[in-house]
Amino acid sequence: MDFSSFEKIVEFAIAREEDAIQAYGAMSGKAKVPGLKNLLLELRNEEKNHKRLLEDLDKKELKDLEIKDVLDLKISDYLVEEPLNGDVTFQDLLIFAAKKEQKAVELYTVLRDRLDRPEFIKLFDYLIEQEKNHKLKLEAEYDDSVYQED
Ligand SMILES: [Fe+2]
Ligand SMILES: [Fe+2]
Repeated sequence: MDFSSFEKIVEFAIAREEDAIQAYGAMSGKAKVPGLKNLLLELRNEEKNHKRLLEDLDKKELKDLEIKDVLDLKISDYLVEEPLNGDVTFQDLLIFAAKKEQKAVELYTVLRDRLDRPEFIKLFDYLIEQEKNHKLKLEAEYDDSVYQED
């Protein structure tokens, strides 16, 4: 991976957001429960917003971004991810998606540390917060579903 310039970093991040949009599209197609399907589509929309932010890099918009601390439930960290072939369970989808979000957080943290302009660091801090939030939503849903089955 070539992260030698800001343009390359942004290009890479845009490709990752594109991948997330595709992945949530595919996952929502596999979700049988309406609540889960809606959550996956909602996350897909947020990934679209991230892609747009990276493509526009509008100074005013970057200045207005709000960044909050996000709780990490760490549920998926200790679970094994199954490939999403054929019939997948509710839990498989949630673990798969949560692990993907964790990877996004890690990647954006690496990219962020290569930046020097405050407005762009802020953009990546925002993206990190957003992906952490996605992981939290997915893990909270997982937690709920496990309790429902008991
Ligand atoms: Fe994203
Ligand atoms: Fe995400």
